[in-house]
Amino acid sequence: MPKIITLKLSGLRNLDSAKLEFSPGFNLIYGENGSGKTSLLEAVYLLGRAKSFRSSSRAPLIQLGLDECVIHADLDDKTGIGFSRSTDGEQHAKINANKIKNQAELAARLPIQLLNSDTFKIIEGGPGVRRSFLDWGVFHVEHQFIQSWQQMQRALSNRNSLLKEKNISPDQIAPWTLEFCRHAEEVHVFRQAYVESLLPVLQQALNLLLPEAGIDLVYEKGWDEESALGKVLEERLDQDRRYGHTSYGPHRADLKISSRGSPAAELLSRGQEKLLVLALKLSQAELYTEETGRKCLFLIDDLPAELDASNRAKILSLLEQSGEQVFVTGIELNQLLKALKNCKEMRLFHVKHGKITPENITADIASDKG
Ligand SMILES: Nc1ncnc2c1ncn2[C@@H]1O[C@H](COP(=O)(O)OP(=O)(O)OP(=O)(O)O)[C@@H](O)[C@H]1O
Ligand SMILES: [Mg+2]
Repeated sequence: MPKIITLKLSGLRNLDSAKLEFSPGFNLIYGENGSGKTSLLEAVYLLGRAKSFRSSSRAPLIQLGLDECVIHADLDDKTGIGFSRSTDGEQHAKINANKIKNQAELAARLPIQLLNSDTFKIIEGGPGVRRSFLDWGVFHVEHQFIQSWQQMQRALSNRNSLLKEKNISPDQIAPWTLEFCRHAEEVHVFRQAYVESLLPVLQQALNLLLPEAGIDLVYEKGWDEESALGKVLEERLDQDRRYGHTSYGPHRADLKISSRGSPAAELLSRGQEKLLVLALKLSQAELYTEETGRKCLFLIDDLPAELDASNRAKILSLLEQSGEQVFVTGIELNQLLKALKNCKEMRLFHVKHGKITPENITADIASDKG
């Protein structure tokens, strides 16, 4: 738990209205390019995040020519989650028909791990992507974290506003510096504790998926290890005022990922990067389950891409062992089926021109296409 038992959707991208019953284990979604596979994953993601993973612009989600899109899921813990957006800009997310006020409530109810072509950014992108990865984990296991993080952000943005003003004395900036430092320390302590518990779990996943790559993860808190943040900011005040922003703090933290001593982004192949990201997400999910007794949902868009048959099978077997509910898409059914040939809890969905059809996995399909 939580697992999605049924999903109803209408008005989303090219998808026909549908009511689908999912497997608590694997859900294989296959179909040609442009058929609507990613849109189906998007429907699940919208329920947990109230925003798309594709575009920040709100319009394209709703099917052209329609006024709204509506998604509803019944979970195995008897919760109903709903999401709707209309062309006039209205958007609602509901838990058991009650409108929710903040996104954190939704994220806590339906924790989602997404793997798509953008997830490479954890390795290749800037520190912000890795901070988001890190903070996802801390947020889901440490309830105090969100408050510390929000207070830190508030102090940071107030401090930055004052830094930009010319006629302001250092004394006027000082209270916000103090406030910022206090919450910065809290955020850092939460993050550090989280990384410490993540590392051994990650190591186990890496032993299975990337044993040769010599992966190492180092958390950097965003300011000099040896110095108090208050002192660092005091020394940098003139420079911070020139640039108009705070140069050190948890907003500059990073999770440095290396392979055999070099930055992982410079050394790993595309397939190895995908395995590394999977190992990161799987261990994050495992830690979440250890701490909360709950499971995450995995959305894996185009699983077969970049992976050889043996790695595809390894990943799916790890996911199966984890007992997570998984939604995977792929273009070729046979690649997915081969990788999952021993899986017991599985449902198949074929998507064609926006129409989603559940299919039975008969010996026919398995031998014909597999
Ligand atoms: N607002 C919209 N209204 C109608 N159709 C849309 C809308 N937004 C996107 N589409 C179309 O929906 C279709 C499905 O897109 P989707 O990304 O889900 O396909 P896919 O099956 O994941 O394809 P691929 O295998 O290429 O990744 C595309 O043809 C796209 O052009
Ligand atoms: Mg797609």
